[in-house]
Amino acid sequence: MRSHRVFYFILLFKFAELSFTKLCEDYQSKLKLEFYPLRHCQRSNKTIIASTNVKNVKFCASYARAHRGLAFNFSPKSREDKNYFEIEANKNDTKKDVDDKSLEVARDFDNCEVLACPENRNFSSIVNDTRFDYYTMYAYPPPIENATCIPSLGLFLLYKERKNYSAAYSTCKSVKGQLAHIASERRTNEISKLLLNSDKLSSTSKEMLAFVGLNETTRGKFITSNSEPLECFDYRAFVPGHPPEIRKPSCVALTDKASWKVISCIKKVMFVCEIFANGPNPLVNNIHQKCSTKHPNNRYSVKQIKKSDFEP
Ligand SMILES: *[C@@H]1O[C@H](CO)[C@@H](O)[C@H](O)[C@H]1NC(C)=O
Ligand SMILES: *[C@@H]1O[C@H](CO)[C@@H](O)[C@H](O)[C@H]1NC(C)=O
Ligand SMILES: *[C@@H]1O[C@H](CO)[C@@H](O)[C@H](O)[C@H]1NC(C)=O
Ligand SMILES: *[C@@H]1O[C@H](CO)[C@@H](O)[C@H](O)[C@H]1NC(C)=O
Ligand SMILES: *[C@@H]1O[C@H](CO)[C@@H](O)[C@H](O)[C@H]1NC(C)=O
Ligand SMILES: *[C@@H]1O[C@H](CO)[C@@H](O)[C@H](O)[C@H]1NC(C)=O
Ligand SMILES: *[C@@H]1O[C@H](CO)[C@@H](O)[C@H](O)[C@H]1NC(C)=O
Repeated sequence: MRSHRVFYFILLFKFAELSFTKLCEDYQSKLKLEFYPLRHCQRSNKTIIASTNVKNVKFCASYARAHRGLAFNFSPKSREDKNYFEIEANKNDTKKDVDDKSLEVARDFDNCEVLACPENRNFSSIVNDTRFDYYTMYAYPPPIENATCIPSLGLFLLYKERKNYSAAYSTCKSVKGQLAHIASERRTNEISKLLLNSDKLSSTSKEMLAFVGLNETTRGKFITSNSEPLECFDYRAFVPGHPPEIRKPSCVALTDKASWKVISCIKKVMFVCEIFANGPNPLVNNIHQKCSTKHPNNRYSVKQIKKSDFEP
């Protein structure tokens, strides 16, 4: 009963806050971050941030999510314990004189490997391994090659070309993304580093500014790129004096010093896009098929990937 009274008290006096919480939760639940298979009988050799043994792929996905992975390698229990590609490669290697038995050890590896970064489109860190399949949050279309992975956060693209906010917004949309979400300390700090690192060409003393996914529709009502009110987040990094008292509805630019500046939306500055996590990939064949070293069950190889293959 008492808790009820407390509840009504809150409801009465903090109605606005409560409805905000509800609103923010709704946005959270709309963010669907799923893993999808992308490579069959292969794994990625990118840095593993956590690994464990799990019963099935669903457990691997929740383990990966809990460890903020953007991709994972999973080895189903039904697969044999050896990598047939390795055995094939060793067959002709007379110097090594490896006999198959040495590879037929009991399963002594973790069957769920969490990766902080996914494969970009060139698949340069994919290795043949009949024990594993590779799953990613970025399965369709695979992310563009020049995107930068910020471990556990996502894939980002800094455009050095200067554009106004609406043009920047459209450009991000055209690369299947949106202006980068910056409403957390880690996001602000890490994305800001992209600006710092880009300064190799112009070693001018000029401040580096880039539009990101935060602007206002009416004065004082800042909205993120996911259309969430800024009130859904605790973190703020406005530079002193910002947002200015007198202004038209404006747009937020990230500085190279991990702070936010409120500037005119028609100003032309650099901008940062964040690539959407997306899937499944319709080109991926049946992940339950048997592995073969002669005809790897990957429907496409790196060479066969054409942009048109990934258009919806
Ligand atoms: C391995 O040796 C066989 C013949 O013994 C040959 O046909 C095959 O091409 C060789 N494979 C590799 C990968 O060298
Ligand atoms: C593949 O992409 C990585 C970065 O994701 C890059 O370092 C590497 O040079 C690229 N390889 C090729 C062959 O383009
Ligand atoms: C990952 O695999 C690629 C391609 O097979 C290889 O060139 C690279 O050396 C491997 N990296 C590591 C860390 O094993
Ligand atoms: C995987 O194996 C196939 C042959 O079965 C080969 O064509 C391909 O280059 C291999 N890929 C890698 C990344 O080693
Ligand atoms: C990424 O590369 C593509 C071509 O491969 C280019 O059109 C695009 O401008 C590049 N984007 C950035 C942000 O460098
Ligand atoms: C602010 O961003 C939203 C999308 O998040 C966009 O619809 C709106 O046009 C932007 N406002 C301005 C002034 O550019
Ligand atoms: C933004 O830039 C684009 C392309 O240069 C231009 O067509 C558009 O009118 C500009 N929008 C505003 C609000 O200045």
